[in-house]
Amino acid sequence: MYHLNLTEFSQEEFLRDYWQKKPVLIKQGFVDFQDPISADELAGLALEEEVQSRLIYKKNNSWQAEFGPFESYDHLGEKDWSLVIQALDNWSEDAAKIIEPFRFIPHWRLDDLMTSFATAGGSVGPHLDLYDTFICQGSGSRRWRVGNKGEHRQFAAHAALLHVEPFTAIIDVEMQAGDILYIPPGFPHEGVSLSNSMSFSVGFRTNSTVSLLSAFADHLIDNEQGGELIEDPHRKATKHSGAIDADDYQLIKNQLQQLLNNDDVFRNFTGSYLSQAKHELDLAVIDEPLADEDISEILAANNLNRIGGLRAFYFTETVDSGICYIDGNEVTFSPEIVPVIKLLCDQVSVSVDELSTWRTNKEFVQFISQQVEAGYWYFAE
Ligand code: SIN
Ligand code: CO
Repeated sequence: MYHLNLTEFSQEEFLRDYWQKKPVLIKQGFVDFQDPISADELAGLALEEEVQSRLIYKKNNSWQAEFGPFESYDHLGEKDWSLVIQALDNWSEDAAKIIEPFRFIPHWRLDDLMTSFATAGGSVGPHLDLYDTFICQGSGSRRWRVGNKGEHRQFAAHAALLHVEPFTAIIDVEMQAGDILYIPPGFPHEGVSLSNSMSFSVGFRTNSTVSLLSAFADHLIDNEQGGELIEDPHRKATKHSGAIDADDYQLIKNQLQQLLNNDDVFRNFTGSYLSQAKHELDLAVIDEPLADEDISEILAANNLNRIGGLRAFYFTETVDSGICYIDGNEVTFSPEIVPVIKLLCDQVSVSVDELSTWRTNKEFVQFISQQVEAGYWYFAE
């Protein structure tokens, strides 16, 4: 287990003073930090088709980016390159544990755990991110520079690398294993490896209005909703046929607002959308469905763990009526099992003790049997 060691401020003070406001170095935020995965294992993962990976290096002083899966790293030499893996939490249970200490921020805000291995001199270059990130230094060390928020001209250093022009640093540190650097969106930053080093970035996602609207429109189309027509049976004659008068403007606006104000529709969209995985999941596929009695027995001695990267949420307003959202879908269940469904959404692992009152509950066993069959949860000793 990783434990976040905050000595300068509490979680509440961090949220009040830094979150979305300014970057901060959390010196030794993880005491005695050990890499959850080795550089060799990371390089091995980047050979896999399903894993999103990138190699970034400079050739004759010009930035290069290659996308995995890779076949070999022989062309790279001993220094000046980085290997970046997206969504390592989907592929390494041990690495996913780095996310756990950040659960004081709700999970719907989380994006993924991005990991990089860099040789001395390796960097992805100076850039801006659109999300909040906690960069956790693993083995080795990196020099990180962070500039202030402001007008920073961005340019494509390579078709796949959006960089920013040189900036003045407000933070300039050599990070060692266990140090954590929090950077809010819009602050330019650059990390350059000083030795072979590992870095684990817990990233949080945000949504622009336009991306939400576009996803909402897709959701309405998929669910055959929102097909109501504008109706104006009480229209009066106009003298200005070119005018869209205030009443008509309001009529059109209401049409859209009615959909947004319909909480059944908009909650369903929000829950489904936010629970969608952005990266491929490594489903825990089982050979044959299990009988209910077998599940009850297994749960007497096994925890229920969710696979890495799975997103499962509930709304505080509707969970009591038996609705939650798992991997992009609305899922209904009997209201009698609400407390255990909350545990499944709040925690990556639900213990034998926590399951003791539920493991023989028919509704719960049926629910979990479907989830285990879908490969979302698995039994763990
Ligand atoms: C890195 O790990 O090298 C890049 C992380 C970041 O800048 O967000
Ligand atoms: Co970044």
